[in-house]
Amino acid sequence: MSERTPVTLPRLAEMKEAGEPIVMVTAYDYPSARVAEEAGVDIVLVGDSAAMVVLGYPGTEPVSMDEMVMLGRAVRRGLKTPLMIGDMPMGSYEASNELAVCSAQRLVKETGCQVVKLEAGGTSVERARAIIRSGIPVMGHVGLTPQTATALGGYKTQGKTAQSAIQLSEDALALQSVGCFAIVFEAVPAAITETIVERLEVPTIGIGAGPGTAGQVLVFHDLLGITTGRAPKFVKRYAEVNAAMVGGVRQFAEEVRSGRFPEADHVYSVEPAQLDEFRRYLDQESLVSRSAWDWEPLP
Ligand code: KIV
Repeated sequence: MSERTPVTLPRLAEMKEAGEPIVMVTAYDYPSARVAEEAGVDIVLVGDSAAMVVLGYPGTEPVSMDEMVMLGRAVRRGLKTPLMIGDMPMGSYEASNELAVCSAQRLVKETGCQVVKLEAGGTSVERARAIIRSGIPVMGHVGLTPQTATALGGYKTQGKTAQSAIQLSEDALALQSVGCFAIVFEAVPAAITETIVERLEVPTIGIGAGPGTAGQVLVFHDLLGITTGRAPKFVKRYAEVNAAMVGGVRQFAEEVRSGRFPEADHVYSVEPAQLDEFRRYLDQESLVSRSAWDWEPLP
């Protein structure tokens, strides 16, 4: 495969202008980053969805900055070409512009991500502006914003009433006006997304927002079928990796228990002469130590 040039922000804007779909996936460790790299995606998000899909928390709220940094560093080691986005975890930006800038700088400095993402409109617009002014590009995220899902009434489609669609569109326009280079639309009716996207200049990336956005994103573990159970409506499974993994480990367990593993192909050999010499040595050693024991005078 020929060397690809690293994806930049002007390249994403160009893609949007040219109607060339932008492909984004999440990644949370070195192997998922390598898969994203080899598959040729444009953007990799170290999403706070890590909280659920790799750390086993019930929602995205508990994941800490330290955890996001650890995951981000692993992703960085596996990526060369896609633009890498660090997701700002809940609690790392909402309280003040200073906190937001410090957190964004920490993500960039410690993980090597090039840009950050934060959720929602409202005060997040001010936080995005502050981070962008500090020199770090920001991706916005509107619609279903999991960090504030409780306030939104749960993990529900957003923008279903005219009133909530107006709010959504105002948030998106505000994020664009402070300089966000792109905006994620999550769980929004396709027709609402299309209507808003027509009025935006920046690239939009959809997840459960229909085909009208400039690009699409899915969570790595959802699209590959690593997560199990009921998935959101917008998830399409392109593989059944969980079944393959469970099958593989189950077969390993069976083969160990039945003595079929390891086979000849999986063991190291040693020169017979070396083995003989080693055994002779051990035989002599055990003679010497047995004799020493026998001759030890009793106390
Ligand atoms: O954390 C995440 O995975 C996300 C995507 C759903 C956009 O924010």
